Amino acid sequence: MIDVQPPPLFADAVDYKHDPAALEAAQGTFNEEGLYAAIARFAAEWFARHGRSARVLDLCSASGLTALRVARTIPVQQTTLVDNEPTALDKAAKNFEGRDGVEMVCADAVTYRDGRTYDLILLNSAYHHIEDERKPAFLANAAALLADGGCMAMGEHFLPEYVTAEQFREAVIAFYRPLLEELEQRGESPSAVAVIRKAAYYTWTGEYEYKTSWVKACAWMPPSLRVAARERIWAPPEAHDDVGTIALRFQRD
Ligand SMILES: C[S@@+](CC[C@H](N)C(=O)[O-])C[C@H]1O[C@@H](n2cnc3c(N)ncnc32)[C@H](O)[C@@H]1O
Repeated sequence: MIDVQPPPLFADAVDYKHDPAALEAAQGTFNEEGLYAAIARFAAEWFARHGRSARVLDLCSASGLTALRVARTIPVQQTTLVDNEPTALDKAAKNFEGRDGVEMVCADAVTYRDGRTYDLILLNSAYHHIEDERKPAFLANAAALLADGGCMAMGEHFLPEYVTAEQFREAVIAFYRPLLEELEQRGESPSAVAVIRKAAYYTWTGEYEYKTSWVKACAWMPPSLRVAARERIWAPPEAHDDVGTIALRFQRD
């Protein structure tokens, strides 16, 4: 527990941990939509290069919206969704109703293995749900699940760099204050904004959401992975180029 009074920015936050509909509403806001669109472009680039249907693994899939976007963009032969929240996978089953070759697995995404490898591994708002000390193992495991020629698509929110706990909390505010203001200015639904307020609060307290900076993510990256493409979707005003809502395509050397 932290011994600091939470700022008013977090007032009226609404939880979403066990509420897939609330999470989906938040995932429909402008910068999250930008991540889905960027990941769909990465998938389309993979398909243009390989010309065959993809084997897709969605880690921390929640209700599977990223994999669904991919399946609406390119031919997919098989989709595996992995999440450790059963209510999210129940919603995923409804979202994928009528589609063949889809399986849902309730498991820890950090250690998930099934003896197969995948052409596209999706990590949308996944990395920040993994505790910092497990982040290196998470990406190393995902890299090991990549088929030859495959790629990993990450959608993430990167904070300004920090060193101390106080700087971390300032970084969270520096990211979320302008984002929450912009969400309201754009007229996003108040319930979606309230969920994002809760995500901000979880990040600030270091509970359930473990967002970090790009500098730290690089230090925790397995050496076999390299960034092949990058799209910055949103950033706080005047933020460093590494800060913001960013989509990344990784390849294994
Ligand atoms: C923000 S949601 C992901 C959104 C989803 N990928 C999308 O694009 O719509 C984060 C998800 O990570 C899941 N999660 C958190 N820690 C996990 C873990 N260690 N293993 C598997 N799933 C995890 C949560 O249950 C939650 O459904």
